[in-house]
Amino acid sequence: MAHSESALPLRKLQGKVAIVTGGASGIGEATARLFADHGVRAVVIADVQDNKGQIVAESIGGERCSYVHCDSSDEKQVKAMVDFTVEKYDQLDIMFSNAGVPSKSEQTILDLNFSQFDTLFGVNVHGMAACVKHAARAMVEKGVKGTIVCTASAAATNCRGGTNMTDYVMSKHAILGLVRAASQQLGVHGIRVNCVSPSAIATPMAAQAGLTSEGVRTAFGPFTPLKGTTLTVNHIADAVLFLASNNSAFVTGHDLVVDGGLISLPHLMTTEN
Ligand SMILES: NC(=O)c1ccc[n+]([C@@H]2O[C@H](COP(=O)([O-])OP(=O)(O)OC[C@H]3O[C@@H](n4cnc5c(N)ncnc54)[C@H](O)[C@@H]3O)[C@@H](O)[C@H]2O)c1
Repeated sequence: MAHSESALPLRKLQGKVAIVTGGASGIGEATARLFADHGVRAVVIADVQDNKGQIVAESIGGERCSYVHCDSSDEKQVKAMVDFTVEKYDQLDIMFSNAGVPSKSEQTILDLNFSQFDTLFGVNVHGMAACVKHAARAMVEKGVKGTIVCTASAAATNCRGGTNMTDYVMSKHAILGLVRAASQQLGVHGIRVNCVSPSAIATPMAAQAGLTSEGVRTAFGPFTPLKGTTLTVNHIADAVLFLASNNSAFVTGHDLVVDGGLISLPHLMTTEN
């Protein structure tokens, strides 16, 4: 729900044009709404859930929000979606590359299924890299000192929460590499590239991996040092807003972990617990 004007003393993204992939649901939806609250001129939601995406876009507001069907694992569709954004709104300032999928089933390296692996990597790695590539090209072409934020995961630093989700854990480690390489390469253009790494939140994606709200509390609560707060998509949206806005003007190549201290307690996160 959009905040009233008076509730927003500072609009951190005034006049900016943003893309949010995976914006029809969960973290992406919350972030698209927060971007709108902070004064973006336009936000383009790119997703494969057309009905949900259109509903979110309409609720944000016709003129300043568009929904585009875009399977991020297909580079041609990513390029077309970025081109659409630049043609319709003149430029691109912010790319939140967030679309992702969970492991279809738990697999150790001993029984890794490469068909599942390739499908997951298509979205989580190839798709993220395609979004960074085409957003950066659009920014460079227009001379925009833009910001790019990817969604990695606490599983990119400490895989013990999802030990047997080998493909997912590997894919999120790859995002750290993508952000580190791209931030070095794009710094010369004034473009910043960072990622946000949530621990578990009971979104539809987490539900596909068998994690309900109760499951998240049971599996992660005891190992999360910060008590009294439950991680929500709004906490992640706040972190993305920080990385997308001028509040992080000198931050690039950074992984902003939002996990209540979970990954700093690796010795407690064993499968036996
Ligand atoms: N929920 C968690 O516990 C958690 C933790 C760490 C990281 N993440 C990451 O957060 C990101 C967002 O996930 P979420 O938890 O908000 O889940 P979600 O299911 O609510 O949202 C994911 C969105 O991505 C879209 N999507 C999936 N495949 C796509 C494709 N090929 N092209 C375009 N869009 C596609 C889905 O339709 C959906 O709208 C993912 O990258 C996920 O890996 C989630």
